[in-house]
Amino acid sequence: MIAKEFSAMDDLVQLAKDKDVAIITINNPPVNALSPGVAKAIGEAIAQVGHDDGVKAVVLIGGGRTFVAGADIKEFGKITSGKTQRGAGLLPLLLQIEDVRRPLVVAIHGSAFGGGLELAMAGHYRVAAPNAQLGQPEVKLGIIPGAGGTQRLPRLVGVTKAVEMCAEGNPITAQEALKLGLVDHLIEGDLLPGAIAFSREIAAKPLRKTRERNEKDKLGVPEQNASIFAAAREKAHTKQRGMMAPLAAIDAVEAATRLSFEEGCQVEQKLFGECLFSDQSKALIHAFFGEREVAKVPDVPKETPTLPVNSVAVVGAGTMGGGIAMVFANAGVSVLLKEADQPALDRGLAAIQKNYQSSVKRGRFTQQFAEERLKLIKPTLSYDDFGKVDMVVEAVFEGMALKKEVFGQLDRACRPGAILASNTSTLDIDEIASATSRPGAVIGTHFFSPANIMRLLEIVRGKASSKEVIATCMQLSKKLGKVGVLVGNCRGFVGNRMFGPYRREAQFLVEEGASIESVDKALFDFGMAMGPMATGDLAGLDVGWRIRKEYRHLEKTGVRQPFAEDRLCELGRYGQKTAAGWYKYDENRRPILDPEVDEMVHRWAREAGIPQRKLSSEEIVDRCIYALVNEGARILEEGIVWRAVDIDIIYLNGYGFPAYRGGPMWYADTVGLDKVYRRISEFHQQHGELWEPAPVLKRLAEEGKTFAELNREQAVMA
Ligand code: 3HC
Ligand code: NAI
Repeated sequence: MIAKEFSAMDDLVQLAKDKDVAIITINNPPVNALSPGVAKAIGEAIAQVGHDDGVKAVVLIGGGRTFVAGADIKEFGKITSGKTQRGAGLLPLLLQIEDVRRPLVVAIHGSAFGGGLELAMAGHYRVAAPNAQLGQPEVKLGIIPGAGGTQRLPRLVGVTKAVEMCAEGNPITAQEALKLGLVDHLIEGDLLPGAIAFSREIAAKPLRKTRERNEKDKLGVPEQNASIFAAAREKAHTKQRGMMAPLAAIDAVEAATRLSFEEGCQVEQKLFGECLFSDQSKALIHAFFGEREVAKVPDVPKETPTLPVNSVAVVGAGTMGGGIAMVFANAGVSVLLKEADQPALDRGLAAIQKNYQSSVKRGRFTQQFAEERLKLIKPTLSYDDFGKVDMVVEAVFEGMALKKEVFGQLDRACRPGAILASNTSTLDIDEIASATSRPGAVIGTHFFSPANIMRLLEIVRGKASSKEVIATCMQLSKKLGKVGVLVGNCRGFVGNRMFGPYRREAQFLVEEGASIESVDKALFDFGMAMGPMATGDLAGLDVGWRIRKEYRHLEKTGVRQPFAEDRLCELGRYGQKTAAGWYKYDENRRPILDPEVDEMVHRWAREAGIPQRKLSSEEIVDRCIYALVNEGARILEEGIVWRAVDIDIIYLNGYGFPAYRGGPMWYADTVGLDKVYRRISEFHQQHGELWEPAPVLKRLAEEGKTFAELNREQAVMA
């Protein structure tokens, strides 16, 4: 039993005693972030313990669901906006902990991330619950560890692992930490009593070592280290292309191998400051909070009841249906997979099996995991068992008549209360819902291809979709490992609606004289995962071609439309699937430049009277990215999303927009909306009505405001 012999320090940190062991508990829910008050209170507790001769050992532990998830990220914005002065941070506290004259054991459960791991490394010993995770994820926020992490970690785990953890930001398990020496002991069962017992054991022996900062054993020798740092830099250049923080993290760890601890910390501080004040870090922090913000739907409060989803049915086992079935199975949900006929069902199942096999080969899943998941998917050709499922996701061919027919059948087959979702990418959810007697149960769940890989899930709200159904789908997205963003019902919803103008401009640029390669290169260099022409080839140029043919009657006459892609389709060049599109493809689907396509498109353009000219990469980027921004502004204005950040999160998770630019709307804010508006107005004059500036953009530009400010001033969804 723990006797509270000390009074609580504060609401945030408590100090108690179990006989001769002092227990310092951090209680700053939900994740015990080290906000300034927490650091101060830990310091006071440490000072008190240091003066108490009755204390033989100290345990530092987190209250609630986790140890410490890091520094308080909200504080960073206050510092960079000048509201708070940047102080010495956590470094003095960590030195104070390391210097305390009692063995100090840090007990870790949940996460010890960022400043949390730095805090743990200042302790003399670390014990952990078996499911704890430890990491330095700062690079994902565009910064580097800023409280000695880049200096202490290599001293504990060696240079190779420290570089990997600091530059890539991925956590490690408690088991790996134990093997590496980052954790001394794993505690099965209750952590606190285990940690107290461990602290008594070590208090009875001489201290192993008192100050990690003085250790050098694991810091390697310059000859070996040089190749480790070179390999890490090369990896960062390819895997974290365009990002400055991973390179800064590598520099900081390198400093640990060359300099004293104090000098190394100074290098770390300087690099940390440069990263913190960069646009990249601000954008990544925006993305961090944005990902959490999109889960909050202003008119669907968090108390809204949700429906259980323990079994689902998927209709259609094609490209998307198969992937969606895997998404549910991977989350442990049983799936009834329905097809129209046996051959289609066999094809669908074979594709799923192949997919699991390749995941096992690549080490993503174990054989056992894959087999268990496969068993959860039950093939069928009828609706007979649909009465038992909690939710259906329809993924049949795109076509209103077929979708309505299927939803009529679902209405008859499913029990009251079941959710009826469509994976349509273009069709009107309300019209689909009208085929049922329960439009409140109908919603869009727009997965992205490949569904089992892509994180984005656009949840499309119909006019009648009930709040329970919306809340359930939002919650479900997290369980499925997706980022769910609620969007309104319009053609193309958010992502694809914006992607239209983006790819339209890319085509126009080629038709005006730019080479295919120069367009893709400019956007790749901007940070997009792929250029727009290569993306078109990947998705299949025929998809848009077929849709355009269907909707041609709706297009306004006299408005310029791109034609090159339709012509390529007429020549049978559909992209990767036909080994030819904007590029040619070898048998491994590697793109090969095809100068004939450039010549052909430029010739067609000349014949159509389009003057040919040279285009700079700056113009290419502005035309494509501002086309996204202008359409995004309209979407915002129409209330298709609640906030600009919803659009950003869609683009970061579904369209390969560089995270370090924060998404299209955030990027426009960083450029300055007055500048963006002026440039769009120039395009309007040069290229006509497709470029008419969105009224909200004009207003914000004139008022000197940002889209982010609009987030706060207006949150209205149509
Ligand atoms: N600071 C401030 N708020 C934080 C935070 C942090 N470090 N970490 C999480 N939060 C907030 C979230 O914004 C969220 O707030 P909300 O409920 O108002 O939306 C709430 O805590 C719960 O977070 P999650 O929804 O993410 O909870 P999960 O259980 O899904 O995940 C987690 C928990 C894995 C700890 C995840 O929150 C996470 O990865 N946090 C960030 C970790 C991180 O990046 N740490 C490094 C910070 S920088 C640093 O330490 C610098 C140092 O070197 C000086
Ligand atoms: P697909 O053509 O690969 O698969 C459709 C499947 O539905 C076929 O296997 C077909 O046999 C089956 N089917 C048709 N009628 C059926 C019925 N009555 N009952 C059971 N099965 C039936 O199509 P894909 O690409 O999977 O698209 C499905 C839906 O997902 C469409 O609405 C599409 O717009 C949407 N979508 C597609 C994306 C993509 O990249 N392919 C991305 C996001 C959404």
